[in-house]
Amino acid sequence: MPPRQTSVGDTILRGKKVVVLTGAGISAESGVRTFRDNDGLWENHRIEDVATPESWARNPSLVWKFYQTRRRQLLEVEPNPAHMAVAHLEGKCKSLVLVTQNVDDLHERGGSSAIIHMHGSLRSLRCQNTGLSEVRMGEHDLAEGFVLCNCCTVATMMRPDIVWFGEIPLEMSVIQKEVEDCEVFIVIGSSGHVYPAAGLVNLANSNGAHTILVNFELPINGRDFDEVHIGKAGEILPELVENW
Ligand code: APR
Repeated sequence: MPPRQTSVGDTILRGKKVVVLTGAGISAESGVRTFRDNDGLWENHRIEDVATPESWARNPSLVWKFYQTRRRQLLEVEPNPAHMAVAHLEGKCKSLVLVTQNVDDLHERGGSSAIIHMHGSLRSLRCQNTGLSEVRMGEHDLAEGFVLCNCCTVATMMRPDIVWFGEIPLEMSVIQKEVEDCEVFIVIGSSGHVYPAAGLVNLANSNGAHTILVNFELPINGRDFDEVHIGKAGEILPELVENW
């Protein structure tokens, strides 16, 4: 059965326990490139070259350059109306847990609180010795050279604080529990290619939640949702949230 295209106003989120999962599409209108669209990041870079523990071990300079460019870009981009709409939704429902696959900080700057960054964060770096993360966004931290930690007696080289392919996303047990418990599960701007995030809609469905998708096009898992809204998140989400 094709997903139900509902009109604005069909769904009421007031008083509901809501989980929102966002992907790269929500930041696209802020000028942050997505991964799998035309001109996405994976068109010009191979995942195996820049986004795996093996690539970091093999060629840290290349991986570092890739992430430093993306870290510096955070200083140039701004949240868009879709980020603001998610923050606004927080005040309308009983509870809202925001889980993002995005490593940018646009949800924070858009006004959302308590964000779970399941794939890590560009703003911080991680000590390779202790595993501790530090927010490192100073001028020197964003320069070309590698950055040393503040936590070890003999300062250690830090790695990007990113969950690479082959690594386990952060806070998975919390995320799974929140999705199991929620009444409404909303995905915004994700192609549904990367697990475990892509499978959370199935977990929500099997626990009886109402599932909603907001995306530019129907993704591969688009038929798993009860309700689908096709369009640019920055254009359609504010009105949806206003009416939810
Ligand atoms: N509004 C809504 N959706 C959009 C918009 C927009 N303005 N622009 C693009 N999209 C949609 C695309 O149609 C696509 O389905 O957003 C989706 C982006 O998909 P991906 O680039 O695959 O991003 P994402 O799903 O977040 O990727 C998951 O893959 O490489 C890893 O770790 C990386 O977190 C990332 C994960």
